[in-house]
Amino acid sequence: MSAPLPEPLAHTRADFPLLEREIDGRPIAYLDSASTAPKPRAVIEAVLDCYRRHTANVHRGVHVLAEEASEAYEAARTEVASFLNAAPDEIVFTRNSTEGVNLVAHGLGLGGDDEVVVTALEHHSNFLPWRAAARAVAVGLGDDGLPRYDEVERALSPRTRLLALAQVPNTTGVVAPVERWVALARERGVPLLVDAAQSASHLPIDVRALDCDFLVLSGHKLLGPSGIGVLYGKRERLAGLALYQTGGGMVRRHTDEGFTPHEVPQRFEAGTPNIEGAVGLGAAVGYLRALGMEAVRAHSLALGRHLVEGLREIPGARIVAGSAPLERRIGLAAFTLAAPGLGQEAIARLLCDRYGILLSGGYHCAHLLHDRLGLDGTVRISTHVFNTHAEIDRALAALREISGW
Ligand SMILES: Cc1ncc(COP(=O)(O)O)c(C=O)c1O
Repeated sequence: MSAPLPEPLAHTRADFPLLEREIDGRPIAYLDSASTAPKPRAVIEAVLDCYRRHTANVHRGVHVLAEEASEAYEAARTEVASFLNAAPDEIVFTRNSTEGVNLVAHGLGLGGDDEVVVTALEHHSNFLPWRAAARAVAVGLGDDGLPRYDEVERALSPRTRLLALAQVPNTTGVVAPVERWVALARERGVPLLVDAAQSASHLPIDVRALDCDFLVLSGHKLLGPSGIGVLYGKRERLAGLALYQTGGGMVRRHTDEGFTPHEVPQRFEAGTPNIEGAVGLGAAVGYLRALGMEAVRAHSLALGRHLVEGLREIPGARIVAGSAPLERRIGLAAFTLAAPGLGQEAIARLLCDRYGILLSGGYHCAHLLHDRLGLDGTVRISTHVFNTHAEIDRALAALREISGW
């Protein structure tokens, strides 16, 4: 028998109450963090503490609780900024990645003739906002599992206003060569937006080193609450965006003659923000930083490799971007499984009902990629810090059984 594989982050399992759940007497295997991730106690407690002890509005109250709430909210912004190596005033709190993309698409003032170069691998949230505001030109998926770089160069035109791509698409789990895209964007003098909705949970991100102009992420995939997300923007890029929403909180002075908005980032946070969400996200980011993002990356890479190697041994399984180099993968793979009488969504459901294994089945908000690959849906396994090789083995064994191998 081979030696058990190292599980350096297995100790984190005790931090996640959700992992104690059973379904029909079976302990669950949660392999669906690309969809949304369970929350560690540190996050749950931080959110509860807001409700229990600091309920007050931010940036407008004159009493002690309002001061405490404002401090906690701004401390979360600082924590997120450190996580990304940004400055706090470059961090705008949004509802999620989707809102961050919409904010930029609106703020750039795109028109009908403008073009945005994206990839066909994008989640709908990093495609439809561009498509709604301008013409989205999509490059395809290469045999190496990466967006086709030769097509990016050809897709650029004098009408290109922005490049946008996922650092890790939610269907391939393969880290894109963002640095090449950034170099091209610099060369052509257009800004670039990175969708880090998936990657932020798996890789250390340094926006200064990356030199991207904008980056979006979602709290709920990053072990934080839902309803909170982040738009990072270089100071001058954020300052150049048109207002997205107006109302209380974003305005410095309003008179009969007009109004003066606050500086960034507050000018993009109209209305009472998701205070508890921001504080919970700050706690989530603190939790990940304490684990160390290099350790998180190594763990994700090891699980991704184990998953893909295991899937390759199942004769009826076909992995999306299956030929991508293993060292570029995170702990995520989408695949089809040939199983008698079962579509991909039905397979995912059966894994839950018969085995207690929770994962995704369907199109994962990436219709275009599925169309281009001629796939009628896929099954997706995705991991986070608390997952183990043993859980992947449990899923692989179930898949083998379902497919009849
Ligand atoms: C790569 C990618 N981008 C964007 C999103 C959208 O995230 P949200 O729904 O939190 O806005 C997702 C969600 O699955 C995603 O995987």
